[in-house]
Amino acid sequence: MMISRPRRNRYREGIRKLVRENTLTVNDLIAPLFVIDGKNQNIPVDSMPGQSRFSIDLLVKEVKELEALGIPCVSLFPALDDSLKDSMASESFNDDGLFQRAISEVKSACPDMIIMSDVAMDPYSSDGHDGIVDPKTGEILNDETLEILAKMSISQAKAGSDIIGPSDMMDGRVAYIRDALDMEGFSKTSIMSYSAKYASAFYGPFRDALDSAPKSGDKLTYQMDYANKREAVRETHMDEFEGADILMVKPGLCYLDVIAKMREHTTLPVAAYNVSGEYAMVKAAAEKGWVDGEKIMMEMLTSFKRAGSDMILTYFAKDAAKLLNS
Ligand code: PBG
Repeated sequence: MMISRPRRNRYREGIRKLVRENTLTVNDLIAPLFVIDGKNQNIPVDSMPGQSRFSIDLLVKEVKELEALGIPCVSLFPALDDSLKDSMASESFNDDGLFQRAISEVKSACPDMIIMSDVAMDPYSSDGHDGIVDPKTGEILNDETLEILAKMSISQAKAGSDIIGPSDMMDGRVAYIRDALDMEGFSKTSIMSYSAKYASAFYGPFRDALDSAPKSGDKLTYQMDYANKREAVRETHMDEFEGADILMVKPGLCYLDVIAKMREHTTLPVAAYNVSGEYAMVKAAAEKGWVDGEKIMMEMLTSFKRAGSDMILTYFAKDAAKLLNS
């Protein structure tokens, strides 16, 4: 006699539905989008099939489509012309800059859409780093960078951003940005902190999209060592203490253990960033016919929920929403 037969809960679709522990819905999805200057521009990103850099007019059109699919949030990133980049990322706090115009146009076209905006120097920096590079030593200067991040955050909040997303990994930036936002009257603007952001080769296609790869060196002195997990708990506590509203783990796929760990250590919502390289791998293998891209997408996205994340930034947002709505 066998008392326990777990298969009894698997025999039919109905019972599988009843015992299912985690469900992916469109409410969980955040769509990252790239914006470029110009009109009627849709420039595909070669290493991210299905993703493009949009000029503001087409970006607005895309956001409307995502809204119609029920996606609650978009995360915007600017791809700037090299001529606008300098060592201090000055364009990042230009209130009339491309990114600020993009935020405000999306906001007025889709007032119900939650707009998240990235805060870090790399898309605007001639050095391609997230912080200021000391010209003599090459060091990434922490405290000097905070001031620029704060100006960038205020400029984005003014343009209409709902969630500021610091992805730079400077120490103390959440508190510094929170303070700056509050002093300017933006106490309702949220911060989703890239709390455990690892130095990862999975960002490659994203850096192609924005042409934002570091000109020299790497990001190992500020992004986390992928061998570490306890350190993510430390970052979790700091960001929570500093006033973050939502915490994030990035990348996602190789870091499900970190998501689960963060979930245990905070009562704040946790987000996973299913990054560009993870997207590219699935697309490439699916194009070759080696894997079923759609099935892998759903399995991956559900695994983020199972690990304990409340929401997922993913380039699959549109495809997954279409499938979930069908
Ligand atoms: C920049 C930033 C990066 C990503 C989001 N914000 C790249 C990096 O840190 O080099 C990566 C996103 C992705 O790969 O999808 N601070």
